[in-house]
Amino acid sequence: MALTYFKRFRMEIDLDGRELPLPPPPADYFLLAWESALLKPHAQAKYESFRFEMDANVFPCLGDRSGCLSLMSDISRKDGFVPTATWLLAYQPPTEREYEYCGTIQGIRDQHGQGAIQNVGVTPAHRGKGLGSVMILRSLAGFRQAGIPRVYLEVTAQNEGAIRLYQRLGFVTTRTVYKAADLVDVAY
Ligand SMILES: CC(C)(COP(=O)(O)OP(=O)(O)OC[C@H]1O[C@@H](n2cnc3c(N)ncnc32)[C@H](O)[C@@H]1OP(=O)(O)O)[C@@H](O)C(=O)NCCC(=O)NCCS
Repeated sequence: MALTYFKRFRMEIDLDGRELPLPPPPADYFLLAWESALLKPHAQAKYESFRFEMDANVFPCLGDRSGCLSLMSDISRKDGFVPTATWLLAYQPPTEREYEYCGTIQGIRDQHGQGAIQNVGVTPAHRGKGLGSVMILRSLAGFRQAGIPRVYLEVTAQNEGAIRLYQRLGFVTTRTVYKAADLVDVAY
């Protein structure tokens, strides 16, 4: 075990006066609004999205099925949980009878009244199709609907693709933070 510090950026977006496009998801994808019956599908999508990613080293619960379930349960029971900023993405081509859950995003209002995106993840097979953007924009609209004008998230500095995506959507870096994590045999 080695204690490692991960450099992370806090990125923020001001929603005041900003036009928020709301592109629909591509064909065969569906955005599902929060309801408690979707707790497990959110946890499943979170686990499948993060299990092989560097953030599963920064936050070990993300690399663990039951850890994702507890995390999702904690988030949804927080006082500041923002259901309108929380979305699940499902894929169902016409040939399939069941949904495949392939993306999740959750929002909370922090103690200062700011919006915080908790985790945004798309499962590997579905990346690069604009789904992350669709979910983030829908979540931002949900924060606005809840009367929250400023939203932030944190991203690991090595996650360059995600950082580019957030910048494209209008997020700017406001702070650098370091998160300590115990690592076992990982070479970052
Ligand atoms: C970051 C993430 C949510 C983006 O979802 P997405 O549906 O691929 O996003 P979009 O299609 O809207 O945008 C694609 C952008 O995300 C970036 N991206 C990051 N990781 C990617 C991956 N593994 N595959 C494809 N695109 C990825 C791409 O580089 C692309 O930006 P670019 O066009 O400037 O290169 C997704 O890659 C993911 O779940 N990654 C693992 C979990 C994670 O790191 N989440 C962010 C925590 S802060």
